[in-house]
Amino acid sequence: MTQIRKAVIPVAGLGTRFLPATKAIPKEMLTIVDRPTIQYIVEEAVASGIEEIVFITSEGKSAIENHFDYDFQLDTVLKEKNKNTLQEELNNISNLIDIVSVRQKKPLGLGHAIWMARHVIGDEPFIVLLGDDLVRSDVPCCKQMIELFDQVGESIVAIQRVPMDQTHQYGIVEGVATDIADTFRISGMIEKPAPGESPSNMAIIGRYLLMPDIFRHLGSATPGHGGEIQLTDSLMRLARERAMYAYEFAGRRYDAGDKLGYLKAVVDFAMTHPDLGSAFKDYIRSACDEKT
Ligand code: UTP
Repeated sequence: MTQIRKAVIPVAGLGTRFLPATKAIPKEMLTIVDRPTIQYIVEEAVASGIEEIVFITSEGKSAIENHFDYDFQLDTVLKEKNKNTLQEELNNISNLIDIVSVRQKKPLGLGHAIWMARHVIGDEPFIVLLGDDLVRSDVPCCKQMIELFDQVGESIVAIQRVPMDQTHQYGIVEGVATDIADTFRISGMIEKPAPGESPSNMAIIGRYLLMPDIFRHLGSATPGHGGEIQLTDSLMRLARERAMYAYEFAGRRYDAGDKLGYLKAVVDFAMTHPDLGSAFKDYIRSACDEKT
């Protein structure tokens, strides 16, 4: 059985949807209750058995690398002040996992960002988690995909059903149901179809399990939708060569790179937070009452 050991997390995008908040702060560092979005994503990878993470970064994203680094000065101060719980929590973050960073010099698109990881990934299947896509689930989304990979042994993209009038915001797949629950064999794929032209409502979200052959296609890819090197175009070329599956994962996904998606994540995570949840729910109830 092939083990999935490595994950790529691209964080080199410009985050224009969240300006001006993201002018000087990476969107992946915006806080969901008490930790940055990117920490939840790294924690999902770790909980799924991933051993090494490759961040695809760009200028201005060093806060992400620093967040997972060991901070000697902070560690010393916390120790001196006997803030042991906090000290342990911070050390746990820096001990989470091995991280490698690769720079994407220009934001040429998600496909190009993934291609930048080719030397670190080498010749093995790997996971991609988008740095602004949060998934909440009982079993981590990547783990669900790795379990499916044990059965199908081919690339898998995670999908969710979206209303037909939102399909133009996503990469959309067409597929035929297989004998495995919630799993479809992909027959077609299109990036952000024009309104009314979507072949289905199965939208690709920010989790992929990819065979290393994807790099061959990414290496020869030309700009597609929006003038960017799109991952979807290379996925489609790979899907013509060998089987590829779409998996309707169990869980809820939040687009934390979008203002409304981010706010939904903050509210949902706050309502179920072990320390704050109950007080936050009371507040939300009273705030709703006041507004009606
Ligand atoms: P998005 O389109 O959501 O990110 O890309 P963006 O470009 O940062 O955001 P907006 O649309 O301007 O607000 C999806 C993922 O791909 C990464 C982003 O960081 C995000 O995780 N990405 C995108 C790169 O790493 N490099 C790119 O050239 C483009």
